[in-house]
Amino acid sequence: MSETLVIHARIATMRGGKYSMIEDGALATSEGRIAWVGPMAELDRQKLPARADPKMLDAEGALVTPGLIDAHTHLVYGGNRAAEFEKRLEGASYEDIAKAGGGIAATVKATRAASDMELRDQSLARLRRLMAGGVTTVEIKSGYGLDMHTEMRILRVAKLLAKDIPVRIRTTFLGAHALPPEFAGRADDYIELLCKEMIPAIALDGAADAVDCFCEGIGFTPEQTQRVFSAAHEMGLRVKLHADQLSDLGGAALAARNRALSADHLEHTNEEGVLAMAKSGTVAMLLPGAYLFLRETKLPPIELLRRHNVPMAIATDCNPGTSPYTSLPLMMNLACVLFRLTPEEALAGATAHAARALGLEEEAGSLEPGKSADFVVWNAEEPAELAYTGGVRPRAAYFAGTYRT
Ligand code: NIG
Ligand code: FE
Repeated sequence: MSETLVIHARIATMRGGKYSMIEDGALATSEGRIAWVGPMAELDRQKLPARADPKMLDAEGALVTPGLIDAHTHLVYGGNRAAEFEKRLEGASYEDIAKAGGGIAATVKATRAASDMELRDQSLARLRRLMAGGVTTVEIKSGYGLDMHTEMRILRVAKLLAKDIPVRIRTTFLGAHALPPEFAGRADDYIELLCKEMIPAIALDGAADAVDCFCEGIGFTPEQTQRVFSAAHEMGLRVKLHADQLSDLGGAALAARNRALSADHLEHTNEEGVLAMAKSGTVAMLLPGAYLFLRETKLPPIELLRRHNVPMAIATDCNPGTSPYTSLPLMMNLACVLFRLTPEEALAGATAHAARALGLEEEAGSLEPGKSADFVVWNAEEPAELAYTGGVRPRAAYFAGTYRT
């Protein structure tokens, strides 16, 4: 494995979720890990562990950050929902469309009908667009199959995307995304199947790293969500939750009670939910793309999250119905413009806090010795430039020490 030494970089290490800038810095990799990071003045090449001569990259003052982490996507699906987008612009609401059998159900139909190759090709194109924005880790949820066979296919396609590409994929089982048509009027029976058969099989297969649920009026009740979470815990899987997106069902507190990795969306979360998250260490996953695309007006409780020190992450929520976006820097821009996050909070949201939302805080999300050598050399100098334009591109990106761009 070739070693890399980046010199004369402005390094936002993101230690402690802050820029923690090193103005004229260097970063050395060894065997896919960060071996050393610090000021040029303290760089002692004799002490670097690299055996072979490292490849040198003079950043000439360019910004270096950890590889970005998109910790909430529904990247693998068939078809698209452009027609539904048109309907919404003619006046139908997201919930109206879901109740009329469109929405998630439409994508389930298209996904079941798609071949593995079709699913892979379509998803790979989206993954490449995410990576072009500096992403080195992506979480991918199932949830457009809603039967054992298709859910498993989605999770396998998701994992396989990383086969020949230097990127880290984490998978999440979202069987409780919507009620499959064959279970119409029998939600509890579907939850029973999910808990007794699907979650155990998926856990034993190692197909998913976590379990998610859509707790909502048009999704599943808090009681059904709790059953899913208990089944996940029984199989040793961590949980996360689509919580309080369209209404307040106490989703954030429910997630926190279950020591969820993250509670996601949170537009309608109240202070009690925020306090519960603070206590349990659950990350607040903000999804400004879905907020924008659904033309929502109720903002997530950013000031409360800040006041109670709940770590805030940002993700694309890439999906065909509510957030068809494939740029995490653009989401950082939206988080600042729509949610009034600072550019520093936005970068922490796409790095250190996103890592924590995936249980990867020891592995990725900040530039520290021992962590995976995932980093981006940007066509920018100031860290605020990333959120400012939402369109800055990497000059070079590395995953586990492997050069990518
Ligand atoms: O995160 N809220 C539920 N799931 C997705 C939307 C899925 C869809 O409409 O296809 C979300 O917004
Ligand atoms: Fe989502």
